[in-house]
Amino acid sequence: MDPRAHPTPAAPALPERRQLTVMFCDLAGSTALSRQLDPEDLRAVIRRFQEVVRVVVAGYEGFVSQYMGDGVLAYFGYPVAHEDDAARAIHAGLGIVEAIRTLEPPLLPEQSGGPAPVHIGISTGLVVVGDRFGVGASHEIAAIGEAPNLAARLQAAAETGCVVIAERTRQLAAGRFEYAAPMHLELKGYVGRVLAWQVLGTSRQRSRFELTHPGELTPWVGRETELEHLLARWRGAGAGQGGVVLVTGEAGIGKSRLVKELVRRIGGTPLHRLLYQCSPYHTHSALHPFIRQLENAAHFAPGESAASRLDKLEALLAASSPALAQATGLFAELLSLPTEGRHPALPSTPQQRKVRTLEAMLGRLQELAASRPVLMVLEDAHWIDPTSSELLDLLATRAADMPVLIVVTSRGGTEPAWLELPQASVLSLERLTPAESAELAGRVATRSPLAEDTLAQIVARADGVPLFAEELVQAVGAGLSTRDIPSTLHDLLMARLDRLGAAKEVAQVAAAVGREVSRQLLAALLPMAQRELDEAIETLATSAVMLTAAPPAAPLLSFRHALLHDAAYASLLLSRRRELHGTIAEALERLEPERLRSEPELLSHHHAQAGHALQAARYSGAAALRALERSANLEALRHATHGVDLLGAVAEGAERERAELSLTMLAGAAHRAVHGFASHEAERCFARALVLSERLGDVPSAVDVRRGLFSCHYARGELALARAQGRHVAGIGEQRSDRAARMLGQWMLGVMSMWQGDFRGARDELALAIELYVPDEHRSKMLAAQIDPGVNAMSHLAWVHWILGDAEAAVQTAGRAVQAARDLGQPFALAMALFFGCVVRGCRGEFEAAQPLLSELSAVTAEHRLSFLGTCAHVLRGQALIETGACEEGLRELDVALQEFGAQEAGLGRPWALAIAASGWQRLGMREHGLRAIDAAFAAVERHGERHWEAELWRVKGELLAPSPQARACLQHAIEVAQRQSARSLEQRASETLARLHEQGAT
Ligand SMILES: Nc1ncnc2c1ncn2[C@@H]1O[C@H](COP(=O)(O)OP(=O)(O)OP(=O)(O)O)[C@@H](O)[C@H]1O
Ligand SMILES: [Mg+2]
Repeated sequence: MDPRAHPTPAAPALPERRQLTVMFCDLAGSTALSRQLDPEDLRAVIRRFQEVVRVVVAGYEGFVSQYMGDGVLAYFGYPVAHEDDAARAIHAGLGIVEAIRTLEPPLLPEQSGGPAPVHIGISTGLVVVGDRFGVGASHEIAAIGEAPNLAARLQAAAETGCVVIAERTRQLAAGRFEYAAPMHLELKGYVGRVLAWQVLGTSRQRSRFELTHPGELTPWVGRETELEHLLARWRGAGAGQGGVVLVTGEAGIGKSRLVKELVRRIGGTPLHRLLYQCSPYHTHSALHPFIRQLENAAHFAPGESAASRLDKLEALLAASSPALAQATGLFAELLSLPTEGRHPALPSTPQQRKVRTLEAMLGRLQELAASRPVLMVLEDAHWIDPTSSELLDLLATRAADMPVLIVVTSRGGTEPAWLELPQASVLSLERLTPAESAELAGRVATRSPLAEDTLAQIVARADGVPLFAEELVQAVGAGLSTRDIPSTLHDLLMARLDRLGAAKEVAQVAAAVGREVSRQLLAALLPMAQRELDEAIETLATSAVMLTAAPPAAPLLSFRHALLHDAAYASLLLSRRRELHGTIAEALERLEPERLRSEPELLSHHHAQAGHALQAARYSGAAALRALERSANLEALRHATHGVDLLGAVAEGAERERAELSLTMLAGAAHRAVHGFASHEAERCFARALVLSERLGDVPSAVDVRRGLFSCHYARGELALARAQGRHVAGIGEQRSDRAARMLGQWMLGVMSMWQGDFRGARDELALAIELYVPDEHRSKMLAAQIDPGVNAMSHLAWVHWILGDAEAAVQTAGRAVQAARDLGQPFALAMALFFGCVVRGCRGEFEAAQPLLSELSAVTAEHRLSFLGTCAHVLRGQALIETGACEEGLRELDVALQEFGAQEAGLGRPWALAIAASGWQRLGMREHGLRAIDAAFAAVERHGERHWEAELWRVKGELLAPSPQARACLQHAIEVAQRQSARSLEQRASETLARLHEQGAT
């Protein structure tokens, strides 16, 4: 390489979090030297040493952070990252050893022949870099993190003349180097042994792709059109119509892999394959890729003498072409081999020599092509040196009538002149489709298949770039989350950001906003003149870091890749992130107030990241409410629980409790919507909310919370517990003369009275509730999924009327309930009213009249996924079938329904449903089944005191036991129960059954 001094690029204004490769380099034996040498001589030695290190480090665009006596500390990846910083550091380490070994005169007097008197340690990791320490110490830029410490320890452990690197560095440098056996070092400050590697040298020259892909390749995915184009061009070349194809696309898009696939597919045919690899370290070294290819073809060995190399070169050229052998002098010069007069003198001017060299290269290609078609691949032309570029021009021009296909890969940049040629074509590689990315990711993860959502996240974050997909899968396989940036991609991404110069800060601030940001918001966040900002945005767009949207979304900018966005964000110090999020939240509230309503979760995110936990929690509440209103119940649940979590960081006090109260109520409502009314999670939320509302003395919310608790107990059939909530609410209503609370209390009590079998009480309470009901007032917005108490009261009252013996009032009231529910436009209320309407019709034996109501009930519950009432519809269908003679089918419906009730933890109405089933069995003559259903029903009655259908149970039992004396006892008991409950209709039924059985002599 040619170590050129590079100007140090401007350091970023603020410290950043970055992946950094750190090199410690130390002069060996300096303590002994200090005893042997005069201080002034020692000073001269150290200065020469430091100068060598400085030049080599600069050659690889590293950064010398500090000279410490006889040591040097250097960074690779700061102030500007390169995709291959780890490799650069190792190259520099090897370069330093070599430079010191061959220094003339030797650095130390007694050095000759021995190893270079230097120890080098290299390590990579996440650091905070950029703080300037020390008074006026402009060079001492500190890197804080593990990497510098580990590099220092490895340096101390390295033998003289050796480079020792950390495992992480080795992983990043991949196959580019060769190593001695692994070292397991005991290092101060480390528990257990630390894996490290001594570097022996660079790997044999291959393409960069091969060096970085030593293992098996991911099986080929997609890109059939592109491959077909290359194959067609190759067939053309075979027929004498050669040419050149430029394969372009961003890093990792699959250019090299495409070429590799081409080679694989044409593998069977005889050909010459020539590989020319451009290098980022040699963009100014004339003909570098061509020189390397020659060295490789001639099999030069490391450390081999010039004479032996010249022999090899002569042999290579003579073998390929006697004519070319004449140009050996030119090639020898190219490879810096002295010819000692063995070859004709070279032209005297450099220009002439160059022309002759390029012609000789063309000659070599022609010679090769004369025997077999040639596939010439030039990799990474974005790093090509000017002379190679000139040579490529020449070769491309002449390829038209030769059996030669030249394939050039490039990440883009300047357009080569030869693109104008008729024999030139371009393949511009676009991103893979999501389906292709998924296929690729799935193939990488062959050993441990990915979970579906992990795969989806990887596909989303890879954005169709195969390299990203591969690395993300591997990182996940190594235990990282899909949110982390794989360390193998870190430097590549950071390099793209560092190239932005001043626009990088704009990218970082934009990253704190999110993957998308509006120009207006950016302008508010950055203390920049409009023109400056426009320029920065232009830079972001031209360097393909961000996309500027076409109108009408023109004010929006978005990061081109999720990973670029993440890398920009990850580079911000945590403290700076916090500050930025605060500013963003404030700016959003001011500039985009519509987003407070449309995306409260966004505000919650920024406030949370800014450390404003209370505001963040409140916005989470707003997000939960919005989600509930749109029936996005799972999202609502997530927002509400997240909000409660956020409160963990808020100091105790009334404000926190108020926020928690509202969030736990929302969480309860969301749980109920997701898991059903009987949900235990919902109950836990409401119970917590009750404690909070009472502590805060917040009576309105206490009423709401008790209403929530009531519905949990109600659905589970826990009648006494539900009744207790009703009493509380009714009490609050009386005390405060609060009409709404009174109404709710009466409704709750009335409903409970019905299920407990106090039908007169139920009639009075429900009638009062209906009288106090004002639809708008009682429809709490926040708990949108709440039961509407008016419709619910009317529905229950309808059944109560029938039981009390007023069949007309029953049908009328049921009709009113259905109408009220339609007026409300609330599906749940409608389903409730339809259900009771069917029940009442069924009690009257009017199954035909019930049919339209039942169909509508099934449709509404299915459309709105109202599971409990949907199950109730099954019971009604079963009942209708049984009563109309299709007993077996009806019993199947009931069986489904009873199982579903179990799964929903719903207890209410079990005795009623079981009584219907029992009468089905009775009709089929399957007495044992029927009695078992009756036993289960009585057990349910006893558990929660649900006595409303008790008389019916005794009646059905009587029928099941007939003919027998017990049948009579049961029926008499049924009549007694019904009389005690004033249940005239049930009493009448029991009496009729008794009379019938008596007539049949069955009692
Ligand atoms: N079509 C494909 N099928 C399977 N794997 C692919 C495909 N394309 C790319 N890959 C894999 O994605 C990774 C990146 O591809 P590759 O190295 O060819 O990209 P590149 O465009 O040459 O990048 P760079 O500009 O860095 O050279 C490689 O591991 C490669 O094997
Ligand atoms: Mg490549």
